[in-house]
Amino acid sequence: MKIGDLNIDVPIIQGGMAIRASMARLAAAVANEGGVGVIAGTAIPLEEFREEIRKARKNIVNKGGALGVNIMVAASTFAESVKVALEEKVDMIICGAGFSRDIFEKVKGTGVKLVPIVSSLKLAKIAEKLGADAIVVEGGNAGGHLGTDKDSWDIVEEIVKGVSIPVFGAGGVITPADAERMMALGVDGVQMGSRFIASKECEVNEEFKEKYVNTKEGDVVQIMSSAGLPANAIKSEYVSRVINEEKLTPKSCISCLKKCSRKFCVKDSLVKAHNGNETEGIFFAGKDVWKINEILSVKEIFDMFKDKVLINK
Ligand SMILES: Cc1cc2nc3c(=O)[nH]c(=O)nc-3n(C[C@H](O)[C@H](O)[C@H](O)COP(=O)(O)O)c2cc1C
Repeated sequence: MKIGDLNIDVPIIQGGMAIRASMARLAAAVANEGGVGVIAGTAIPLEEFREEIRKARKNIVNKGGALGVNIMVAASTFAESVKVALEEKVDMIICGAGFSRDIFEKVKGTGVKLVPIVSSLKLAKIAEKLGADAIVVEGGNAGGHLGTDKDSWDIVEEIVKGVSIPVFGAGGVITPADAERMMALGVDGVQMGSRFIASKECEVNEEFKEKYVNTKEGDVVQIMSSAGLPANAIKSEYVSRVINEEKLTPKSCISCLKKCSRKFCVKDSLVKAHNGNETEGIFFAGKDVWKINEILSVKEIFDMFKDKVLINK
């Protein structure tokens, strides 16, 4: 597929996943399979973000793939991270967890493709009007911070029909059959998050990956993140405490969010999950993570999904 002058051999975006879940290793592996590998730039030092982009670039040998970054609009360093991504000339900036109008002017004319994540037709149309090169439409069944209660299956088709730019469907694409179902709604490609956490190249702790493999249907619940947005997470005692709004105020704070409820620290909880801490980690996951039953390499994932997304529109 094409997004402007950018060719992408396989229309699969590996969703950006903070905090240090999607880094250079995973992103390069995805780009080398011809998809869009994405480094998450949220809540990591700017210099580390820059280094990861450079490391991924060095390891990408397939010209048919692309390197993107994902930056949360809700992050306090959003503008600085965008600047780093532009300086490093990534192929694509994907931004979610909020909507920024300012970024369109900053990216315009740089050649970097801008791909906002939206969850409604209204926002999709605004993004198109402001100059988005493509959009990711993400439902409330997805991993990460959410912009709607509706599942991707219920919002994607209407948005595809309402805009003329390429659309990637996100949320609930876990199996090749899910990708087929999403493509049938008219999207140009898919974005997957959970499936790539349970990949050999993902840099989270093995316990995080095993949790995905062992999760049963119904084990994912919604919490209100301290970022002020809902998010899906795997049930645990700690998650229940967050849901019950127990006072879990962090001892220290680096003001990583523009606005934070300070009821608990989502960054700390995600870092702990990354390190496999069952007691205080919050394991973000898409609602359909229970469908994952093995940890695969990125190549194995692409081999399974490729023919489902390579369809002539
Ligand atoms: C652990 C985890 C962390 C995530 N972090 C981010 C993030 O930093 N920014 C973002 O836009 N989306 C984030 N997401 C969402 C993914 O990029 C992707 O859109 C979503 O997981 C798709 O739903 P799926 O998991 O059902 O495939 C995250 C998802 C997971 C599972």
